[in-house]
Amino acid sequence: MHQDLERILLTEEELRARVAAVGREVDVRYHGRRPLVIGILKGSIIFYADFIRCLTCPVELDFMAVSSYGSGTVSSGKLKIRKDLDRDVAGRDVIIVEDIIDSGFTLANLRQLLLERGANSVAIVTLLNKASRREYDISPDYNCFDIEDEFVVGYGLDQDEKYRNLPYIGILKRALYE
Ligand code: IMP
Ligand code: MG
Repeated sequence: MHQDLERILLTEEELRARVAAVGREVDVRYHGRRPLVIGILKGSIIFYADFIRCLTCPVELDFMAVSSYGSGTVSSGKLKIRKDLDRDVAGRDVIIVEDIIDSGFTLANLRQLLLERGANSVAIVTLLNKASRREYDISPDYNCFDIEDEFVVGYGLDQDEKYRNLPYIGILKRALYE
């Protein structure tokens, strides 16, 4: 285990099994369709790569990078689009793939934006859900794991751009960010 971690929360095996199960559920829903799968950079990339390989329907891939103003381990402020989509979402069935829903600010705003741009449908797939932290009215259509209010890293998730390449998810030692 990485020395900066309190403990491992989700092992590689647990991640693999659950992501595959959720992927199969999503696949059934999109049978016969061709969704545009939007990965939210950068936190979702590892989950995204594993998730799309569980889909058998034809997919198109696209990415967005957004950030809320402010820094540290608490998200705050206004949503800023740092990288926009290459594809037009009008009339498309869109699947947003996110690493974690915390306050819900990011996804509440993104979902609204994509609907305003004319998406036919918007589904939210998240790896992690911190339901106890929710401040905005948003809930995922598909969620792999509910977690407690702890700061987690690994499998794409970072703290100050570190730990994204850990193959598992761990709880970061509080002393490192408080
Ligand atoms: P929200 O807009 O408050 O829902 O925040 C979502 C974003 O906050 C995620 O996409 C992450 O980038 C970040 N975030 C929230 N909690 C964690 C965590 O425990 N570890 C790493 N990033 C987190
Ligand atoms: Mg993120």
